Amino acid sequence: MKLVFLGPPGAGKGTMATRLADHLTIPHISTGDIFRFNIKNQTELGKRVKAILDSGELVPDDLTIELVEDRLTKDDAKNGFILDGFPRTIPQAEALSKRESLDAVVNFELKDEEVIKRLSGRRVHPASGRTYHVLFSPPTVEGQDDETGEPLVQRDDDKEEAIANRLRVYRAQTEPLIAYYRDKGTLDDLDSAPAPDLVFTALKEVLRV
Ligand code: AP5
Repeated sequence: MKLVFLGPPGAGKGTMATRLADHLTIPHISTGDIFRFNIKNQTELGKRVKAILDSGELVPDDLTIELVEDRLTKDDAKNGFILDGFPRTIPQAEALSKRESLDAVVNFELKDEEVIKRLSGRRVHPASGRTYHVLFSPPTVEGQDDETGEPLVQRDDDKEEAIANRLRVYRAQTEPLIAYYRDKGTLDDLDSAPAPDLVFTALKEVLRV
């Protein structure tokens, strides 16, 4: 299946994409994770995008489109993929539509006050991308990854000021994609407020997988 996950920051796209990718044995392609990997490894790309990610603005379309197009040529993406965080603008969606025919676009819906709670409590294990929440899905030992015991960190863009900007950027630049995909008849809305297991069950029902 070729899927796109849309929705505000912190709606649970990454959490559900990880689980569904495992369930369907297709790759989970997160542009945010690719950028963060490059920042951590101090690559040329990482140096170019670090300040952009920290502020919550979007990386320029040409750079992001090229990166995703390259990723989609890899063998593991031939029979399907979950794109998480891409497309985020109309030009990105148009570039994607030129090369891929999507099976579904899932629109994760969550109110701003819940977004803020989720992002401010999120903790991540940088090496694996495993995500926790201090209240909603805490690690077994506070501050430590369940599998490796390594320290968990807070993303730089999960600080208060960046969260507010990410929400503004989402409304202005990404939300128009909801109407874009609804017009094409490929959009499925999903209430992402319930607990993770319930959202995952609803997601599988929506996609009939
Ligand atoms: P990106 O990494 O894509 O960030 P985002 O879209 O803001 O999404 P998040 O990762 O913050 O949230 P999520 O929906 O995946 O939620 P999660 O599952 O983690 O992008 C980061 C930056 O990269 C952008 O700001 C931009 O600069 C750049 N970028 C990326 N793509 C780009 C593009 N295409 N074009 C240009 N720039 C781009 O869950 C959040 C928390 O909630 C976690 O703690 C989790 O444990 C918890 N949680 C999840 N589900 C539930 C639930 N059901 N109940 C309770 N808690 C839950």
